[in-house]
Amino acid sequence: MISRREWLRITAGGLALGTAGASRLRAFTPAKEATVYKSATCGCCKKWVEHLQKAGYTVTAHDVPDVEVYKKKYGVPSSLGSCHTAVVTSGYVIEGHVPADLIDRVIAQRPKDLIGLAVPGMPQGSPGMETGVVDKYEIVAFDKAGKTRVFARRG
Ligand code: CU
Ligand code: CU
Repeated sequence: MISRREWLRITAGGLALGTAGASRLRAFTPAKEATVYKSATCGCCKKWVEHLQKAGYTVTAHDVPDVEVYKKKYGVPSSLGSCHTAVVTSGYVIEGHVPADLIDRVIAQRPKDLIGLAVPGMPQGSPGMETGVVDKYEIVAFDKAGKTRVFARRG
């Protein structure tokens, strides 16, 4: 018969193995990460960051003097511009108040031709723009060929 001490050692070993197995599994699911470029004085940007965090994203937010620089750098068409620009898991670019569940979809599906998603302007009722009024708005996908298409509609 094994001693109590021996039994504890075996169980602890089993637990350690179990944990290692779980983290190995987790490695196959891409982590939800976002780096956000925004102006320090933008209140709705801050609220959108909170929306992402609530949806499980680890967010690194940078206050920058000129947000336009990042839209150009990451290939956001000027017609789709909004207040902030983010780069998320796998390098997808998110412009403006895009709902987190749609970012989840892009991260999961990993479309090859896609640069990212944008909500042009700042429609009321989009995440981070809760004013009590809900406008209908489009979430637009933009791709490497310079094309745009409606990815989803909300509001
Ligand atoms: Cu905004
Ligand atoms: Cu913003």
